[in-house]
Amino acid sequence: MSNVKKLYKKVTTNSLFEMKQRGESIAMLTAYDFSLARLVDKAGIDVILVGDSASNVMAGHETTLPITLDHMIYHASSVIKAVKRALVVVDLPFGSYQGNPKAALSSSIRIMKESGGHAVKLEGGKEIAMTVDRIVSSGIPVMGHLGLTPQSIYKFGTYAVRAKEEEEAEQLLTDAKSLEKSGCFAIVLEKIPADLAKKVSDSIQIPTIGIGAGSGVNGQVLVLHDMLGMNTEFNPRFLRRYLNLEELIPNAIKNYITDVKSLAFPNSEESY
Ligand code: KIV
Repeated sequence: MSNVKKLYKKVTTNSLFEMKQRGESIAMLTAYDFSLARLVDKAGIDVILVGDSASNVMAGHETTLPITLDHMIYHASSVIKAVKRALVVVDLPFGSYQGNPKAALSSSIRIMKESGGHAVKLEGGKEIAMTVDRIVSSGIPVMGHLGLTPQSIYKFGTYAVRAKEEEEAEQLLTDAKSLEKSGCFAIVLEKIPADLAKKVSDSIQIPTIGIGAGSGVNGQVLVLHDMLGMNTEFNPRFLRRYLNLEELIPNAIKNYITDVKSLAFPNSEESY
């Protein structure tokens, strides 16, 4: 038996369940590439989501719809190479699972085999219960996603807060229970009223992870590029910025340009 001490304890779906039970809030962020995933993991994040928001922040698309399964596998395999501790969850992209449990399973298997991700995430409620059950039965952990589900943006017509009306709120609660019953290990709640998010979180055993869902949930998630302030034009109320890279990066680049133009870079110590 090896006597090498483990320097870190890997986060698993069970760890998240235990965190909810002992009241420890789960910290989740997105990442899409090796270099940033390495830093996010090193900082001690619990869960890294290789989100289909890569479609927006990496590829510059207006919505999450264009990103493909191949793209998601590319991003996830880059992230996985950097991660030592966090649980890595990979979004199933639009068109890779909707309406077809068999296709959903084969998309999930591709993600697990080709990227090395630890779990998949998909959007929807009761209507995807059979799909979730099929994926979970094959041994792949599934995270759900309710509320504002960006893959349905053309159905909603707007990125406004969801489930403000009683009927939609009741449906969301039913959907959360159905996802739990189908075997999801956690559910993302996006842009819904805080009191509804708390009610859902208190009604199910599995953890909820909120984005724009207030503080009564069991964890929080943000898009990495948003919380690092890479695009200050994107300004939703739920977003807290921890850095202003939109200013810091161009300033560093301006300094570099000045140094190159003035021949201040490289100096003798930077030369061979
Ligand atoms: O794709 C993504 O980044 C997400 C989060 C907003 C939860 O689904």
